[in-house]
Amino acid sequence: ITPLDKQSRIDCVPWLKLQNDTQALIRECANYDYCTYNSVDNNKEVPSCYYEPKKLSFEIVSNETTELGFVYNIQRRNSQSLYKNLRVSFEFLDDYALRFKIVSPSVSEYEVPIHINKPNIKAKDPKYDVQIDQTNFNFKIIRKSTGTVLWDTSLGPIIFEELHKQISTKLPSENVYGFGENRHESFRHDLNYQNWPIWGRDEAPENHEKGNLYANQPFYTCMEDDGKSHGVALVNSNALDYEFIPAPGLVYRATGGILDFYVFLGPEPENVIQQFTEYFGRTFFPPYWALGFQISRYGYLNLDDMKQVLDRFDANGIPLDTQVADIDHFDRRLDFTIDQQNWTGLPEYFDYLHSRGMKTVLLLDPALVVNETNYWPYETGRQKDIFIKWPPGQSPDFAETGSDIMLGYCWPPAKVAYPDFMKKTTQDWWVESIMRHHTKLKFDGLWIDMNEPAVFGTNDERPFNWPEESRPYWSLKCPDDKYEKVKTKSSYLYGETTKLSQKTLCMVGLQGETNQYKHYDVHNLYGYYESIPTFEAAKKINNKDRGFVITRSTFLGGGQYGGHWTGDNHSLWRHLYYSIIGMLEFNLFGISYVGADICGFWLNTTDEMCARWSSLGAFYPFSRNHNNEFNIHQDPGALSNDVVRSARNALKIRYEILPFYYTLFYKSHTKGNTVIRPLFHEYPHDRTSFPIDKQFLVGPAFLVTPVIDEGKTSVTGYFPADNWYDYYDGKLVSSNQNNGTWLELNAPIDYIPLHIRGGYIIPTQDWALTTEKSRQNPFGLIIAPNADGEAQGDLFYDDGYTDVKKNKFYYATISLRESRIKFNVEENNYDEMANLVLNKIRLFVKASSSQNIKFILNNEVLDSSKIEFKGDEILFKNLNIKMTESFELEWT
Ligand code: NOJ
Repeated sequence: ITPLDKQSRIDCVPWLKLQNDTQALIRECANYDYCTYNSVDNNKEVPSCYYEPKKLSFEIVSNETTELGFVYNIQRRNSQSLYKNLRVSFEFLDDYALRFKIVSPSVSEYEVPIHINKPNIKAKDPKYDVQIDQTNFNFKIIRKSTGTVLWDTSLGPIIFEELHKQISTKLPSENVYGFGENRHESFRHDLNYQNWPIWGRDEAPENHEKGNLYANQPFYTCMEDDGKSHGVALVNSNALDYEFIPAPGLVYRATGGILDFYVFLGPEPENVIQQFTEYFGRTFFPPYWALGFQISRYGYLNLDDMKQVLDRFDANGIPLDTQVADIDHFDRRLDFTIDQQNWTGLPEYFDYLHSRGMKTVLLLDPALVVNETNYWPYETGRQKDIFIKWPPGQSPDFAETGSDIMLGYCWPPAKVAYPDFMKKTTQDWWVESIMRHHTKLKFDGLWIDMNEPAVFGTNDERPFNWPEESRPYWSLKCPDDKYEKVKTKSSYLYGETTKLSQKTLCMVGLQGETNQYKHYDVHNLYGYYESIPTFEAAKKINNKDRGFVITRSTFLGGGQYGGHWTGDNHSLWRHLYYSIIGMLEFNLFGISYVGADICGFWLNTTDEMCARWSSLGAFYPFSRNHNNEFNIHQDPGALSNDVVRSARNALKIRYEILPFYYTLFYKSHTKGNTVIRPLFHEYPHDRTSFPIDKQFLVGPAFLVTPVIDEGKTSVTGYFPADNWYDYYDGKLVSSNQNNGTWLELNAPIDYIPLHIRGGYIIPTQDWALTTEKSRQNPFGLIIAPNADGEAQGDLFYDDGYTDVKKNKFYYATISLRESRIKFNVEENNYDEMANLVLNKIRLFVKASSSQNIKFILNNEVLDSSKIEFKGDEILFKNLNIKMTESFELEWT
């Protein structure tokens, strides 16, 4: 890289990027002696006012070794700044994980208080080197085995000021993934000066192309050119901005806190996620029922409206595990209430659903209404002093609450207060409140929403009008302080708005045990901290080890407390595609239980779109159809036959392969693997797979190639070098062992192309309309041999809600080798398994009865009535083998 060529400029005045005013830019640029102005005509993305890195250089003052690594004390040349001295520490945490941290020794800055599982002895044989530039302090992180430079900070200046922390790195390749939550339009990042914010916000992805959305995940992974992979997490919860530049390079701008990075060396892409989640927290293990299908809607008119949805599922024979109650069932949208006019009978209806073996999920918002008589959620909270507050003496509402509680406006028709979940008392109170409500309404899982946190109309000057009702106008007004204005350091952060508090609380809000934090610093942790007690409550309500939570806002490691849905998408074809990108990204973030609103949240869906989306969504780990009150019912039965057939066909397959999904979740929970993964996670040496994001793999072996475009009845998919079999009929569609192949696949409206990778065995169980029923059905195996005629797989199974640490599970390994299938029961501690059998095996080989093959099951010749030759597969049926018995099936 030539230092200041057009590929590696770092914008000096990013807040002017969107303004298109050259004169203003030239004037502003002249204010900084470390910036250079030099315009570029042909590419408006290239910054014309950029840093001269050498002008903001640091010299080394001293260095010392520490228990875990070493520290450099550095000083900015020619600077009067309070922050001119910095302390840069490197911790060699383990052989594959390095932490580096930049702080100011003279000013104590906010540090993210989340728990990270760090070892406290130094790595013995680190796979990385750190090289320091002794003249102008900079550093490189190098993968020892290949010499690849993973990080090189000499790309741009290190800036550390009160409200502006910045660091840049050259990237070893152009294959970068992750960061969020944003509406990324490709999974692999576009590096042409693309700039994105991270600042949790209640915003529909469609509304701001480059906006900041609900969750906060400053984590990326990178595929190095030789197929090795690494990942980097920045532990900073302030408003952030990340920018890719073509160098290839990456620039971080944070509006506060410290610079605290963790680098994970992989080298396999799946290792990176295992390492990241080992430190930040492994995903929760969803209860088995959570893998069933869920139907939801915001805008049921009343209980009957909700019941009719179930009738439509019944009438059409579509699998369904869970019905979801959104805010419509609340009395005036007040948490922990039930509308006594339109929703009487909801508790009985939930009981009825349970009697059918179904489950229920309840939505909760964090905000609680304050001026309501006898409203226990707020009253108990106020007594325990759990709400976010104004600094003393600043509350405009003191008279109303008799305290400094910060009031905003959300769904309820009056002012609301926001619990501070960082306090232990709040967490306990929240668990108690959920338990208390549960005595009245038996819900099984919790859906926490609006937890960025969302506040309607903050700083608005005009009345806030919700279309269908008139409400008293009111809005939270935030002071004009330096925190509110800080967004100007970043071009896209909040785009057109003027204050950081837009759609949320004021930055001065006080949080933490001793009110030691400003909302400014901890805003991005709101959903994370709310998930902790919600997850606790979700386990407690059912008196189980495992619980169900999905949350809209999250932070690094949030997957340990629940899953995520990608918020208020639109019923637009593009959003089918975005949903794949979102699902792949959240799997990188260790939040493997993720899904998008199937058929879209905003706008009326169409039959064709909803048919396609139903078959794609059937393979989301969190599979739920949901939309909003202004649009038509979109449960399959409310739409055309195409939608019904498409949903039914795909969900039957989902339910059939649930043992496979469940085993993947077990691995995600215990080892940190992804559940849904991009092709390159399995084929890191196949560069063609690097940009592929219109197909995805379930685990290592099940390839989904959805139709995501309107008017198409075929779709083109990529099949990396391997054997690939059509799931439906076992036909070998590709067997090229040297190169990948593109294939055009036929895909009528009610059909989704699915393929199984040679070398793998997928455990199945016959489908049923609920997981409670499917769990009683016989198991099966789908065996897809690789080019050597071998395959392997495994099966984890348990009661669906016990902690795996209690060792109450069943685990079997299955292999195919030398014409012999071996099914080996390795762990047999789930008693119910004794009542279940394995009935069928689909073996994907070409064979016919005329070949006179003899099949031997456990030393006895298998009765020919149990064998069906179907051309591309042999089906063994009615096997009736006890699941608790190991067996061998061989042929000669
Ligand atoms: C916003 C959520 O994103 C959406 O899913 C929900 O239906 C509404 N809030 C109403 O609760």
